[in-house]
Amino acid sequence: MAEFTLPKHSKIGKGKTVKADEAETTKSFSVYRWNPDDGENPRMDTFEVDMDSCGPMVLDALIKIKNEMDATLTFRRSCREGVCGSCAMNIDGENTLACTKAIDDIKGDVKITPLPHQEVIKDLVPDLSNFYAQYASIKPWMQTQSTTPEKERLQSREDREHLDGLYECILCACCSTSCPSYWWNSDKYLGPAVLLQAYRWLVDSRDEATGERLDDLEDPFRLYRCHTIMNCANACPKGLNPAKAIAEIKKMMLERKG
Ligand code: SF4
Ligand code: SF4
Ligand code: FES
Repeated sequence: MAEFTLPKHSKIGKGKTVKADEAETTKSFSVYRWNPDDGENPRMDTFEVDMDSCGPMVLDALIKIKNEMDATLTFRRSCREGVCGSCAMNIDGENTLACTKAIDDIKGDVKITPLPHQEVIKDLVPDLSNFYAQYASIKPWMQTQSTTPEKERLQSREDREHLDGLYECILCACCSTSCPSYWWNSDKYLGPAVLLQAYRWLVDSRDEATGERLDDLEDPFRLYRCHTIMNCANACPKGLNPAKAIAEIKKMMLERKG
């Protein structure tokens, strides 16, 4: 697997260490910090967290740090059960969701940095504007030309099953930000998450814009920058396989050329 790199910042400065008062069992969390307003370089701060009063997941530790040790620590979270995708970050060298990553599964100190190779807004918050714009560019909604039925567009059980392994994607960006092709070409290459979503609409039996969707992807960069490195499938916290979806799109391209 390719080595992960830190976010787009040049130097990491020396950070502070904050200890929990009178704690018997502590674990050390080394957390990437950067504040756009203080003119300082990024740094890694270390927090010694009292494990006897901390929940089991890395997100629990981050919330505890924010509540009890440093209120300025900034990160995204919402659902805290692996469905919103907002707490994606790099934990112990892997892109994953802080709310579903168990602290006990990490040996030694815990190192937390933002998703790799994205601009940072503050601390653990990456700027995902490009990622979301790319998602919008694939028109992630059903497109139809036929007359709208009175009740609903029906789908057979078999056709519905084609969406399994795709509809579960929570757009956390763990896969795209682990993909070396996306690191170097994210201005032009759509990346694994958005391509998995594109495939989700290509195989939806109710959608009637398959040809146009394939036309939009027929481009040396948007689709064909995937070199099957497979980081994406290893990174997905939902167990999905974007590389397979990309291979299926390439197959559809070939099939329509005959
Ligand atoms: S398989 Fe393709 S999309 Fe997945 S990490 Fe590799 S290059 Fe990126
Ligand atoms: S495919 Fe997996 S890793 Fe990629 S955005 Fe969807 S849920 Fe996240
Ligand atoms: S907080 Fe929603 S996925 Fe982690």
